[in-house]
Amino acid sequence: MIGAILPPDVAAVSVFGDLSPREGCELFPAETAAIVRAVARRRAEFTTVRLCARRAMEQLGLAPAPLLPGKRGAVSWPEGVVGSMTHCAGFRAAAVARTGAIASLGIDAEPNGPLPDGVLEVVSLPRERAGLTELSRQRPEVHGDRLLFSAKEAVFKTWYPLTGRELDFTEAELAFDPAGTFSARLLVPGPEVAGRRHGTFSGRWTAGRGFVVTAIALPA
Ligand SMILES: CC(C)(COP(=O)(O)OP(=O)(O)OC[C@H]1O[C@@H](n2cnc3c(N)ncnc32)[C@H](O)[C@@H]1OP(=O)(O)O)[C@@H](O)C(=O)NCCC(=O)NCCS
Repeated sequence: MIGAILPPDVAAVSVFGDLSPREGCELFPAETAAIVRAVARRRAEFTTVRLCARRAMEQLGLAPAPLLPGKRGAVSWPEGVVGSMTHCAGFRAAAVARTGAIASLGIDAEPNGPLPDGVLEVVSLPRERAGLTELSRQRPEVHGDRLLFSAKEAVFKTWYPLTGRELDFTEAELAFDPAGTFSARLLVPGPEVAGRRHGTFSGRWTAGRGFVVTAIALPA
């Protein structure tokens, strides 16, 4: 599902549900130590998404490596690799690429259902809410408020590894094309990659099997 909205330079693996240890889902000792005190649900998502990441790395010819949460939850990927992971109830996905091709990746998945009351007003700008009205006219099966939330999470996951800074929900203005693309205009100075400042991130989205999924792959 997620592979369909990422460029060919990116390897992506997703699963609906969890992988059991029988299916080869083993963690490195340092990864096990990182979740030793976590509840079962957290252990399951942490483990499964890392197996997805290992499979994706294998597709790129990369050796398995521990994927440990670092500052602000951002994962330290091996040298020369960028990646992103997401998990929600019933779905886990990971995407990886070589830094020669992609500067930063952000993927996110959410259940295709409405946001809790009051959340949309906090995470969106007036112009984004107006855009959602048009989106829902053309794609009534998609919960636009949830899609917007997911895309903003993907923006943050793309932004943070490049900047190491917070980005508030109101510091990027998103617009969706009903055909499955979106743009995120940064309202703060964008990150500089290879001498070029990125003021806008371009992404893609899809919906199906009860989920909305968003992805950004910033070219190197
Ligand atoms: C960090 C955040 C984006 C994670 O999103 P989420 O929907 O809660 O969770 P997901 O399951 O989709 O993703 C979790 C994964 O994201 C990755 N992640 C966590 N923090 C991250 C960060 N700072 N940078 C990049 N990736 C990060 C991790 O791989 C994590 O999985 P893991 O803990 O098993 O390693 C979210 O919790 C958050 O802090 N949001 C506020 C900031 C924001 O979104 N601003 C909007 C800007 S427009």
